[in-house]
Amino acid sequence: MDSNNWSNFYTPLPVAKKMINLIPEIPDPVIIADICVGSGNLLKIAHERWPNSILLAIDLDIKAIDNFKLQFKESIVMNYDTLDFKKMSIFLENFKKTYDYCDLIVGNPPFGFYKNFAQNFQIFEQNHLLHILFDEANNLKRIEAFMFISNILFLKPNGIFASIIPENFFSSERWKTYRKIFIKYFFETLYLSKKDRFFSRSDVKSRIYIGRLKIKNIDNIHSKSIYKNIFLESKKNFKSYPNVEIIRGTFVSPLSKLNTEKNSIPIFHSDCMKFLRKKTKGFTKRFIFKEFINSKAILQKGDVVVTRVGRSCGESAAINKYFKGWHISDCIYIIRGIDIPLKEFVQIFNQNNYLKKRGLTIQYITKKDLSKVVRKIITTFNYRKNKF
Ligand SMILES: C[S@@+](CC[C@H](N)C(=O)[O-])C[C@H]1O[C@@H](n2cnc3c(N)ncnc32)[C@H](O)[C@@H]1O
Repeated sequence: MDSNNWSNFYTPLPVAKKMINLIPEIPDPVIIADICVGSGNLLKIAHERWPNSILLAIDLDIKAIDNFKLQFKESIVMNYDTLDFKKMSIFLENFKKTYDYCDLIVGNPPFGFYKNFAQNFQIFEQNHLLHILFDEANNLKRIEAFMFISNILFLKPNGIFASIIPENFFSSERWKTYRKIFIKYFFETLYLSKKDRFFSRSDVKSRIYIGRLKIKNIDNIHSKSIYKNIFLESKKNFKSYPNVEIIRGTFVSPLSKLNTEKNSIPIFHSDCMKFLRKKTKGFTKRFIFKEFINSKAILQKGDVVVTRVGRSCGESAAINKYFKGWHISDCIYIIRGIDIPLKEFVQIFNQNNYLKKRGLTIQYITKKDLSKVVRKIITTFNYRKNKF
């Protein structure tokens, strides 16, 4: 999400009302917080339900903070970056001396690409379960993954977390390990809505999630067995066709149409796919900074590309000489290691429209979907070849 567009994702009042009303009967919370307060709508409605609670509002945006303080003079407001974990742990140490951790946190986090953290913070060194989640957030490189961790840091054990959460969290293959740790070990789920389009100016679908924090910290031995468990489970994942790899690209935010500097390489995006399939005459040239490059996601001879999201989702093409050495964006998958003629593979893929039906609005193709199709095409091709 572009930081200029956060107001497009402020929670509309009716959605805020719906979410706050869904929180079960609880004793009056002493502290209710929103650590990305933005419009303040979530805290406003929470205050209507629990007028005696102290409100804690934090945001990176000083305007949001000033605006909130004008309306709620008794509230505690902070103009902080809640992903500055070092600063946050000092703040929380002091905060808990006077107020303790929060009983209820409401939220609708920012979402989008986020750089990963090069260092581990002391706060995670002491807390093994959070450390595992922090490592996973670093793998995901998503701002919301880090922001959930910050929310957990603010919350009391048994405290309630009520949040709008982007659909990807619940259904994407990529989020699987993070989701498992979050939902299985940290929270007891009290309510989960169906996916919905809460923000009128966006296609993004989200859900309302309400959970009770079960644990925040565990000892080392216990965490090791949990760790083992999580990774054994994720190993049971899907099996792709032998030697075939499915590779996903880089999130679009760090790409720039303007950046033509030397330390960047061109990026293969959905419009390049249309060009390659002779559906358009041109495309916008975008670049990616070398620091974001995932070396696997660089196109090679013999690769087939597939559009992962959007209206042309599920279309495939074989890479030609022109695009060799380009990096792929997050809208594209590479299928690498296909051992049948690429022309035939792409022809069968596109004729059968196996994945086409998923391409409407913001549906997307998972690696699991794609690997099933790859298996089907290759086995059908080999079967036919042997038969005729
Ligand atoms: C999607 S808006 C949601 C705001 C509010 N919860 C609502 O529902 O209206 C996200 C908010 O997070 C704030 N934000 C983004 N990154 C932040 C950070 N690192 N620390 C604190 N606030 C942040 C933005 O300024 C924005 O107000």
